[in-house]
Amino acid sequence: MKTDLLNIISGSLDKSDLIEIRKDFSVLLTSITKTKSKNIVLGNGFTSVPKEFLMGELNQILETHTIERTKYYIKRLKKSLTETKHSKINDLNLNRWKEYDDIITDSLWILNKRDNSGVHHAGYWGNFIPQIPNQLLRRYTKKGEWILDPFLGSGTTLIEAQRLSRNAVGIELSKKVLDQTKKNIAKEANPNKVRLEFVNGDSASIDLKSVLSTLDIKSFQFQIFHPPYWDIIKFSDNKSDLSNTKSIEDFLRGFGRVLDNCLPHLDKKRFAAVVISDKYSGGEWIPLGFLVMQEVLKRGMILKSTIVKNFEETTAKRNQKELWRYRALAGGFYVFKHEYIFIFQKK
Ligand SMILES: C[S@@+](CC[C@H](N)C(=O)[O-])C[C@H]1O[C@@H](n2cnc3c(N)ncnc32)[C@H](O)[C@@H]1O
Repeated sequence: MKTDLLNIISGSLDKSDLIEIRKDFSVLLTSITKTKSKNIVLGNGFTSVPKEFLMGELNQILETHTIERTKYYIKRLKKSLTETKHSKINDLNLNRWKEYDDIITDSLWILNKRDNSGVHHAGYWGNFIPQIPNQLLRRYTKKGEWILDPFLGSGTTLIEAQRLSRNAVGIELSKKVLDQTKKNIAKEANPNKVRLEFVNGDSASIDLKSVLSTLDIKSFQFQIFHPPYWDIIKFSDNKSDLSNTKSIEDFLRGFGRVLDNCLPHLDKKRFAAVVISDKYSGGEWIPLGFLVMQEVLKRGMILKSTIVKNFEETTAKRNQKELWRYRALAGGFYVFKHEYIFIFQKK
């Protein structure tokens, strides 16, 4: 197929008769349409192109009416099949960007179905859905790079990192949670020999320099922060647990200390994300998300995006839906349905 495909593409660029070019491409489109497999393997055996993508490109070429435009699309297709273009922060081939239709680029994320595959499970109260680290790791890291998650919990980030061939360090204050997480993740195959490091301690004070030197690495290429949403869920009785802070000021100071400890070990120009929601308490909407975002900005990071993500509906919430609707109508507020993912870049 490749010889045909690339020959037709190259040959057409030398032709000046649009009708002739269109004839070649419609023969090509018919033969690709008939192919049963989802991917068309190119002759070099290393590259395969999704059939859907190829059909879309060929249709676009055939729908074009001028020779200049037709050749422009043909050249673009040739480039996407023969050349790669990468940015410095991920492995996406920008010459084939159209194929990444599962990578979200909008700031509103509606994710309704939790990925429950393999060792992922919704059992850890307060974990995030795997699609969050999955999306972020694919956008902001390359294979083999190092990620830091200072609020490990059930290790959703590390599971995704392992699947995507990224190395990762997870820090968790609770030894019990850390041990369970480590045990759970060990059940999943690690064919690419990804390195995962589980560290027990307080992310505000843990000596990251020595963690890095034990691993024989200099820094991290991405950091993801999923702190407790202040005291909404109490994770432990430990005083250093951010969910035990007595006031919003204490919570922000504590989170700031975690940032001060972690951000110096992020490479310049690389990205960090914070996942958090707001909080409703005492008849008042507390803009936890925006306050936390300010803490990161104070540390000289650039805000690249504010993503609003829907909350999945838990069974408990579903059962209380009517009650919350009544309360909202009576109390003059809106029921929480979203959380934030803030994306930052280090200068
Ligand atoms: C929101 S959860 C993170 C959930 C995680 N993203 C997941 O998917 O399972 C926050 C976690 O941070 C931990 N934690 C709280 N304060 C901490 C601190 N100072 N240092 C390290 N971990 C802390 C809690 O025990 C809890 O497991």
